Amino acid sequence: MPTVTVTRRVRFNAAHRVHNPALPDDENARLFGKCNNPNWHGHNYTLDVSVEGPMDPKTGYVFDLAKLKAVVQKEITDIVDHRNFNLDVPFMKDVIPTTENIVVAFWKLLAPKVAPAALKRLVLWETENNYVEYDGR
Ligand code: NI
Repeated sequence: MPTVTVTRRVRFNAAHRVHNPALPDDENARLFGKCNNPNWHGHNYTLDVSVEGPMDPKTGYVFDLAKLKAVVQKEITDIVDHRNFNLDVPFMKDVIPTTENIVVAFWKLLAPKVAPAALKRLVLWETENNYVEYDGR
């Protein structure tokens, strides 16, 4: 059967402060600029979750997108939507909430949940101009 990649897009919003507690305040301000604002700031995030696998000859699906929607909702959006990454999200505890760190944390949560397909790529947009992508390496 052909191997095909399917993608589900989800949106959520969340607050954060990009801050390294091991560094002095002035260095944090210099490194992270506005993103270091002590009283938080928010983003409207977009996450594209791509899974790859052989098509099931019975259904013609790689992975039922309704099921993928439910997995991403349970593992990610139910936990992060309308929350603060620094304060409210257990899997981001003690992690600087850059988009890079967030996408790696998402990968660890989602990768075991999409069998028998394989998680192929996550693309996380923090703004309409900035995104990161991760393939698990
Ligand atoms: Ni930010």
